[in-house]
Amino acid sequence: MLSRIKDLATDLAPRLIEIRRHIHSHPELSGQEYQTAAYVAGVLSSFGFHVQELVGKTGVVAELRGEGTDERILAIRTDMDALPIQERTDLEFSSRHPGVMHACGHDVHTTVGLGTAMILAQLGVPLPGTTRFLFQPAEETAQGAHWMIRDGVMEGVSSILGVHVWPSVVGGSIGVRYGALTAAADDLEITIIGESGHGARPHEAIDAIWIASQVITSLQQAISRTQNPLRPVVLTIGQIQGGRAPNVIADQVRMLGTVRSLHPETSERLPEWIEQIVASVCQTYEARYTLNYRRGVPSVQNDFTLTQIVESAASEAWGSDRVRILLEPSLGAEDFSLYLGHAPGMMFRLGVAFEDQVNHPLHHPQFKVNEEAIITGVVTMAYAAYKYWQKKG
Ligand code: NI
Repeated sequence: MLSRIKDLATDLAPRLIEIRRHIHSHPELSGQEYQTAAYVAGVLSSFGFHVQELVGKTGVVAELRGEGTDERILAIRTDMDALPIQERTDLEFSSRHPGVMHACGHDVHTTVGLGTAMILAQLGVPLPGTTRFLFQPAEETAQGAHWMIRDGVMEGVSSILGVHVWPSVVGGSIGVRYGALTAAADDLEITIIGESGHGARPHEAIDAIWIASQVITSLQQAISRTQNPLRPVVLTIGQIQGGRAPNVIADQVRMLGTVRSLHPETSERLPEWIEQIVASVCQTYEARYTLNYRRGVPSVQNDFTLTQIVESAASEAWGSDRVRILLEPSLGAEDFSLYLGHAPGMMFRLGVAFEDQVNHPLHHPQFKVNEEAIITGVVTMAYAAYKYWQKKG
């Protein structure tokens, strides 16, 4: 079956590259993927799929019905949105939409989703259960998975697979990580409320700027002394506002930040832990505070069995020297994790680096993809799905 999948992929390669370039040159921002969704739906329809549009606002769903008695549903999720970045590559198919760019490879993901659907539909052997293809909008704003789940795409799903391009792995290779792949990412907003006064008479005021600096310092020190160093926590205050004049003590400071962590138990406890520190500093200096901790997305935790399936599919397809076991997770965030609240899943990394040129990171205006990755991704995904269906549930 592997050679059949590889042959189908080779035949489809020119079409897949055309699809990827079309999507790349017509990027759309999160939640506005109308043209992309219509294009995806058109490609799926031309391959005989019955397509549901406007699922999760601008998402697309198609199913390949199983022909056996297996009641499991395998979902394959890809994302379709682009970023508010002005593309600065020299590609002939670079973005035609000013200020919008596929700088995170979601054009490649969508193409891998489409290619996998095409291959599984043409396999020539019936699959025992249903494969559901999810083309998700708005991953960059961490909204799309919520919208898709709200519209019921995870109903009946037993397992889910996903893919993300990775510029530190060379094109033609796959990166596989057991366990945590990405971090939980939450938003933090703290307001310190003191009392204004003359800059020369600090004892008559409550200096919100100085107390805010104590809060930041205490939080950073407490991370290093109270959090398990093998379970990383990153807290970044990225925005701070307060004060009106050089000689007036500020009565209010507002701080905005992001909090990243990898272990679910750590993530669980972070809001309370942060509040204790803020509260104790404020109490010491008689300030008041408000704290707003907003949960973002949880960490992606790859399921062990599904990771084994993907690793063995990739090793058989490409040889084990083209499968990199990733030893480190990323502290980036990925809303694929939200699906994992409904079914076990696995996201693999698709190498897109060039061996002979400078590789820019994701979200960079000169980010480029080694298109060899498209076939690697499609074959790996399709063969992993095939192997999944061969395994008894
Ligand atoms: Ni991305």
